[in-house]
Amino acid sequence: MINIKLSVDSVKSFVSEDQIHNFQDKISLAHQALLKKTAAGNEFLGWVNLPSSIEESLLDDILLHAKTISQKAEIYVVIGIGGSYLGARAVIEALQHHFSLMISGTFPQIIYAGQNISEDYLADLMQVLDKKDYAVSVISKSGTTTEPALAFRLIKNHLENKYGKAEASKRIIAITDEKRGALKTLADNEGYKTYVIPDNVGGRYSVLTPVGLLPIAVAGYDIKKLVAGAKEMESFLKSNTSIDTNQAMLYAAVRNALSFQGKSTEILVNYEPRLHYLSEWWKQLYGESEGKVGKGIFPASVSNTTDLHSMGQYIQEGARNIFETVLSIENSHQTLNIPEDEENLDGLNYLCSKSITEVNQGAEEATRQAHVDGGVPNLRISIPKIDEENMGQLLYFFEFACGLSGYTLGVNPFDQPGVEAYKNNMFAILGKPGF
Ligand code: PA5
Repeated sequence: MINIKLSVDSVKSFVSEDQIHNFQDKISLAHQALLKKTAAGNEFLGWVNLPSSIEESLLDDILLHAKTISQKAEIYVVIGIGGSYLGARAVIEALQHHFSLMISGTFPQIIYAGQNISEDYLADLMQVLDKKDYAVSVISKSGTTTEPALAFRLIKNHLENKYGKAEASKRIIAITDEKRGALKTLADNEGYKTYVIPDNVGGRYSVLTPVGLLPIAVAGYDIKKLVAGAKEMESFLKSNTSIDTNQAMLYAAVRNALSFQGKSTEILVNYEPRLHYLSEWWKQLYGESEGKVGKGIFPASVSNTTDLHSMGQYIQEGARNIFETVLSIENSHQTLNIPEDEENLDGLNYLCSKSITEVNQGAEEATRQAHVDGGVPNLRISIPKIDEENMGQLLYFFEFACGLSGYTLGVNPFDQPGVEAYKNNMFAILGKPGF
């Protein structure tokens, strides 16, 4: 069953039904290109069939190793950057306790490294690792990315000093290319357990490979339900071929129709702080997939209601080149009663008959109305609750829609030539041989 629903009612005063349906033909071609692998980037379409083709034995192996890690580690360090960490972080932070680092549970606490080059960040991390039992996954498809390689060199050294070389190598899992790259060579030489990132799955589409699944399993979440959710969405989006029935096609059509009207920035909005990293994952997915050859909708994000008090003014009245896609969560996991107060000095007694979720939803609806009135089209993705199955559906929905939208926009959504530019300059500045 498909649990997540896209509503585009609040874009209809900006783009007509006809303007949206004008994209049907292009999006149908994009749909065929994704399924038949007939367009640019077709060598990176392994993610399209991933949920239905992932082997049960791989999931079981990941669960087994996740269990071993949880038995020996209080902390699990996930080393990676971009597509090699954002998917895992998006899912883990969506599912975990907001204050997980302050409470001890059955599973290791997950911390992240290799996604920046901050000396203070790494030094602080070493101080924490001095005092804790820990294990590590180092994740890099190319196996040569500087940020994770540098973090891994430091952490490997720390692990070996702490546990000795033999035990250290049992606490490291490398996730990388099957054959190529410095990390593959290192892992083979040191005898690390490795998982393969399939050749035909690009970094930002890799959350349903071991790249995302191992960290998510170590954190204690049900990767089989996550994959099952993605599989439901895969089957639904592959078999529906019209904008009227296929929500990913509709999302892609509306984005392109709005972009055609000059709406060049899309803001992904959430009202749940636990979705912050889902937005970070989404920004990479859409930014790297669509932003090329002078084209692309700029992906931005806000976390409300927090950001209504910082970005709200701009969204309400700034340049009118934006539209919003709201992740609307229907149910919370827990309930809190708002207590009656006899004196009512804060004037909040009028809220006492409502749940906090109803107050949050009131804020969301009020904001939708204000923004639409102010010239900001509003798409809404409603999700009954945040759990593994729904996260799986949502991840696959966004990936599939991104492929459709990128092809419709006229770009190859599966390469990222622009990411190399800064690297070449950095290597030259830092004196890497050959640059
Ligand atoms: O989506 C992508 O391909 C990139 O964002 C990569 O994930 C990122 O640059 C990290 O690359 P690698 O996994 O090779 O270290």
